[in-house]
Amino acid sequence: MEPIESRPPGEGKRVCIVGASGKLGRYMVRHALDRGYEVVGVCREQSVPKLADFAERITVVPGPTDDRAVIERAVDGCDAVFTVLVPWGMHHYASGTAQAVLDHAPEGARLIFSCGWHITRDGKDVYGWKFKLAVAVVGRLAKLVRAVDLDDQVEACRRVFDSGTRWTVVRGSTLEEGPGQGLPVWSRHVGDPILASDRTRRIDFARFMVEAAENDDLVREAPAIVGRLTRSALAHAETRT
Ligand SMILES: NC(=O)c1ccc[n+]([C@@H]2O[C@H](COP(=O)([O-])OP(=O)(O)OC[C@H]3O[C@@H](n4cnc5c(N)ncnc54)[C@H](OP(=O)(O)O)[C@@H]3O)[C@@H](O)[C@H]2O)c1
Repeated sequence: MEPIESRPPGEGKRVCIVGASGKLGRYMVRHALDRGYEVVGVCREQSVPKLADFAERITVVPGPTDDRAVIERAVDGCDAVFTVLVPWGMHHYASGTAQAVLDHAPEGARLIFSCGWHITRDGKDVYGWKFKLAVAVVGRLAKLVRAVDLDDQVEACRRVFDSGTRWTVVRGSTLEEGPGQGLPVWSRHVGDPILASDRTRRIDFARFMVEAAENDDLVREAPAIVGRLTRSALAHAETRT
C-alpha cells in the first residue's frame, strides 16, 4: 500500500500578516511558518528589527499598515491575510488598515482580523458591568490624550462585517503570556458562560487566527474566544460530555 502523504496545510500557499512586528503578529508569523505557509509581513519601518529572528524566512514589506500602496503590494497573490486591528492615534488607523485590506486582497482570500470582546456584530453580546466600565474608562481616557480611538476599531469592524469578503473577526478576551494551551474555544456571543474566565494566552489567540484560514465554518463569523484550559472552558466541556 502507498504511504499516506502528510503535507503541511500551508504548503504552496502564501499569507500576509499585517502588523507582523507586534506581540500577536510575531506569534502569528511563527504559527504560519510552522504550518508551511510562505509569509509576507507588514510593519512600520521602525519596527522591522523586531522581525530579525525571521529575517531569512519571511518577506517584510515596511510601511504604515493603513498605507494602501503598501497593503496592495503585500497582499498580492495571498490566499489569506491576517490583520492585527489596533486603534492607535486619532487618524483612523484601524479603519484605514481594514479598508486597505478589504480593497486589495485577492478575491476569495480568507481575511482574518483581530479585535477585542468590546466589538459586537449583532448587538446580542451581554457584557458584565466591570467590562463595560473598563471599556468606557479606558476608551475615554485614551481618547482624551489622543492615543487610542476605540470608536475607530468599531468602525473598522463595521466595514469588515458589511463587506462581501470571506472574513472572520476574532474577538480576543484579556490576553496573557505563557506557553500554549491549544486552540481556544469560542462562542458567538460574549455572555456565554463558556467565556466567563476571560483569559487567553496570546500565543493561542495567534493560533486561532492562523487556523481560522483553513476553517470554512468560521467564514463570516465573529468568534469570541477563551483559553481552552480556563476554568469556564473546562466546566463547559464537562457539561457537554
Ligand atoms: N491586550 C489585550 O489584553 C487584548 C485583549 C483582547 C484583544 N486584544 C486584541 O489583540 C490584538 C493585539 O493586541 P496586543 O495588545 O497583543 O498588541 P500587539 O500584538 O503588541 O500589537 C500592537 C500593534 O500596534 C502597533 N503599534 C504600536 N504603537 C503604534 C503606533 N503608535 N502607531 C501605529 N501602530 C502602533 C504595533 O506595531 P509596532 O510593532 O510597529 O510597534 C503592533 O502591530 C489587537 O487587535 C487587540 O484589539 C488585545
